[in-house]
Amino acid sequence: MKIFNLVDNGSAKYLQLAESVKQNIRMGKLLPGDPLPSVKAFSEDMGLNRHTIMKAFAELIAEGWVESQQRIGYSVGSKIPIEGSKTAAPKQQVHAKFDFRLIRAGTALSATPATHFTYNYSGGQPDLSKFPFNEFKRHMSSTLARPNIEQFSYGETKGVPELIQQIQTYLRKSRSITNRDIIITNGSQEALYIVAQLLLQKGEQVAVEALGYPPAMAVFKNAGANLAAIKQDVKGIIPEDLEYKILNGNIKLIYLTPLHQYPTTVTLPIARRMAVYQLASKYKIPIIEDDYDHEFHYRSQPLAPMASDDPQQLVIYLSTFSKVMFPGARIGILAVSDTLAKAIAEYRMMISHKGNVLMQLALAKWMESGGFERHLKRMTRIYMARRDHAIKFLEQLEVFDFICPDGGMALWVKLKNTSINTAILATQAKQHGIYLQHEKQYHTTPCNNQNNHLRIGFASMPEQKFSEGLSIVANLIAQNK
Ligand SMILES: Cc1ncc(COP(=O)(O)O)c(C=O)c1O
Repeated sequence: MKIFNLVDNGSAKYLQLAESVKQNIRMGKLLPGDPLPSVKAFSEDMGLNRHTIMKAFAELIAEGWVESQQRIGYSVGSKIPIEGSKTAAPKQQVHAKFDFRLIRAGTALSATPATHFTYNYSGGQPDLSKFPFNEFKRHMSSTLARPNIEQFSYGETKGVPELIQQIQTYLRKSRSITNRDIIITNGSQEALYIVAQLLLQKGEQVAVEALGYPPAMAVFKNAGANLAAIKQDVKGIIPEDLEYKILNGNIKLIYLTPLHQYPTTVTLPIARRMAVYQLASKYKIPIIEDDYDHEFHYRSQPLAPMASDDPQQLVIYLSTFSKVMFPGARIGILAVSDTLAKAIAEYRMMISHKGNVLMQLALAKWMESGGFERHLKRMTRIYMARRDHAIKFLEQLEVFDFICPDGGMALWVKLKNTSINTAILATQAKQHGIYLQHEKQYHTTPCNNQNNHLRIGFASMPEQKFSEGLSIVANLIAQNK
């Protein structure tokens, strides 16, 4: 009976024959030690020339499937751990999928990404249709036209020197951050992950704002830490509550979004920043300052980051290009003391060696050419106009209370009708192709079902579309009465 048939997978004939032999072994039709037909018999049976058969055997021997003994011929490798029967019918074997023992869980992926909705009010969504892809492509092309082979290889894990230099200048001019080591990370999320792994151990606490950024919370919990939610009011985190929780807990790290508190958008005033810094210094607790949308501030110059006035270098400064460019660029910035930078770079070696060199070099060129700054200015103008429109439109709707944020890409609004649960409203809005973010998503520790706020992103859609979708939301609110 002919048991070998070429496996037509598009490869060379001898590989197709080798694959057929392997399949027979895998299925148990051939057992370890079983003799195989001679080259001559194979050749006649399959109608292939001997050279092809010899090449197939050579391949099978090299991979360990087949052994060859002088004067005896070829046989199936004696050490192959295959169980089966010589008489096994050539039926398809059914395998139950391997059941992995998962020790940890990540963050559940959303069934429908925000970008798939007709109206996307995600607070962190930039308007990617305005990104100058063509202009950026030129910098990508010129990077590839004259590749720096050394940089494209392993080595240097902190980021390409050209981009680090551009970012050093940018941080110095725009945020007065100097004398720091810079590391380019795969988005600020990677930076958060590494810092949490380096600084936290099981059972310790991270002080976070009562309302906060869920991916950061996930990272702290993944490192084994518990969250200590610090009370906040309309000005942001309350330093007295922070001190109370430091004295009565085991806080080893503070995570803050001082410029535009996430998700409430308020700017932490100078006096509170100083109070928090003094507490951090007194109790020797580092601060992560997540400055995720520093670029977009409309009222005046944004307050300089806490990292700009940090004589002890206890602030771990984090920023991102996800908003000015696009989240898929995966360019995050860490500005830290040299000793911490060394530890972070070494830890990063275990995860991903280094970042995407092509993207980094192209970005460095884009910054050097002035294109980045032009884009930034243009987007700031566009987003400011969108914010102003959003404010006016929401005032007309008369269903929300809110304050006008000085910057950022979102509004934090409270429903006037507090009997409506915004989680339910967000679910109803989904049926109309509208993506809304609601308060409950942001409570860093369980709350008493308080759920009256929405975070409404205004940056990603033109004014008219913004109003269209929110008119539908206003109707839903009216129906809920
Ligand atoms: C508070 C906060 N941190 C960081 C980021 C940026 O994350 P990444 O750089 O990983 O894209 C965002 C984006 O939404 C954010 O809202």
